[in-house]
Amino acid sequence: MKLSIFGTGYVGLVTGTCFAEMGNEVLCIDIDAEKVARLQSGEVPIFEPGLEEMVESNIRLGHLSFTSDIAAGVAHGEVLFIAVGTPADEDGSADLQYVLSVARSIGELMEHEVVVVDKSTVPVGTADLVQQTITETLSGRGVNIPFHMVSNPEFLKEGAAISDFMKPDRIVIGTSSEHGMRMMEQLYAPFNRNHDKIVPMDLRSAELTKYAANVMLATKISLMNELANVSDRLGADIEAVRRGIGMDPRIGYHFIYPGTGYGGSCFPKDVKALIHTAQQAGYEAKLVSSVEAVNAAQKRILFDKLSHHFNHQIAGLTFALWGLAFKPNTDDMREAPSRTLIDLLIEAGAKVRAYDPEARSEARRVYADEAGLTICDDRNETLRNADGLLVVTEWNEFRSPDFQHIREVLNTPVIFDGRNLYDPETLGQLGFTHYAIGRGSSHH
Ligand SMILES: NC(=O)c1ccc[n+]([C@@H]2O[C@H](COP(=O)([O-])OP(=O)(O)OC[C@H]3O[C@@H](n4cnc5c(N)ncnc54)[C@H](O)[C@@H]3O)[C@@H](O)[C@H]2O)c1
Repeated sequence: MKLSIFGTGYVGLVTGTCFAEMGNEVLCIDIDAEKVARLQSGEVPIFEPGLEEMVESNIRLGHLSFTSDIAAGVAHGEVLFIAVGTPADEDGSADLQYVLSVARSIGELMEHEVVVVDKSTVPVGTADLVQQTITETLSGRGVNIPFHMVSNPEFLKEGAAISDFMKPDRIVIGTSSEHGMRMMEQLYAPFNRNHDKIVPMDLRSAELTKYAANVMLATKISLMNELANVSDRLGADIEAVRRGIGMDPRIGYHFIYPGTGYGGSCFPKDVKALIHTAQQAGYEAKLVSSVEAVNAAQKRILFDKLSHHFNHQIAGLTFALWGLAFKPNTDDMREAPSRTLIDLLIEAGAKVRAYDPEARSEARRVYADEAGLTICDDRNETLRNADGLLVVTEWNEFRSPDFQHIREVLNTPVIFDGRNLYDPETLGQLGFTHYAIGRGSSHH
């Protein structure tokens, strides 16, 4: 099939590459000409395991190409995917300008029947809006070319995007068009061989399904963080509690790790957007609003513990910080808890020496003018002259560090363990003061 994918971010690039891998003729379009130029030469601008190799081989086979020419993009595909960003606007609503700009381009430039698939995460009713925009633009041109609207939300996880796309849990397809549904079934057939994973539904339900999934996951995190904070105050150990509840199959072990709050490009903005759409529909989503409020507070937790430990005298101190990406196996720092922490530390007059296995260049971009922050290329470098170590992202390489070395190098042997990576007893025996999340006695 001939496919055009608008937007070559995490979702567009992975979608385009995986469809190309199955033998489709994929053209990826992005308005960022510099990104397109890099992609054309096989260079992948993001860190995503396995992606670069797959991009390269599909370019070589002629299945995958890139352009910034929107007209060429609209002309190429029988199926046109919209996979552009939908960032949060100031009021928390999803900013639809990029989605609607693609819709207008399609209306202005299409010459043959197409299926238009929205893969971006968008508020309920957006597919109707896209459909209306295309219809109006077409009638402005005085033409009537048929097109079919589909909502096909994406559930991939950054850091495991390729395998998630190749082996999806489910394939949600919302449409009222029979032709649209047939085309999507055909396109997804190679990913749907083991058992039928397609969940057909109407456009609005498909749009809400994506928000429901992310809000459910964000709720699990905020609830565990809340329980961890209660644990801290009551002298219980949330890690024991976690194991004690995870065995219940109605609860399960997945996604119930306490930590420093969720970040990334999706949960924060999708939680906000759902609160906003509900509000517009006359409903106050109280639980979802609390999920957001708990998370905002949780992003401060390491700072609060640190501040308490140093009797609020932080100015002039230096801290080693491990982990900048919002989670392991990605270089994405959008809404990362590390950023809240760095900002708070610098505001309080401290200096930060930070390391991340993959997000160093992203951090240098984000914090270009920040004198208080040094990005180190080696994790041991961060410890030099540091008054404590903060662990923010649970990369594998942080799991079993050389504690002897850390203790020798740090000015004061204190570790703020934002992901409960370390055993409190072992660290205690090694002479560390160890603060974790919800492990009792660490918050006074
Ligand atoms: N990142 C994820 O893990 C993930 C997972 C599921 C769903 N989503 C959703 O998918 C959508 C895209 O997310 P992302 O993380 O890939 O975004 P991104 O910010 O990484 O990429 C978006 C890309 O779209 C391009 N773009 C903007 N306007 C354009 C236009 N008119 N034509 C062509 N390209 C245009 C931008 O230049 C950018 O490269 C969002 O709605 C997001 O919520 C993201």
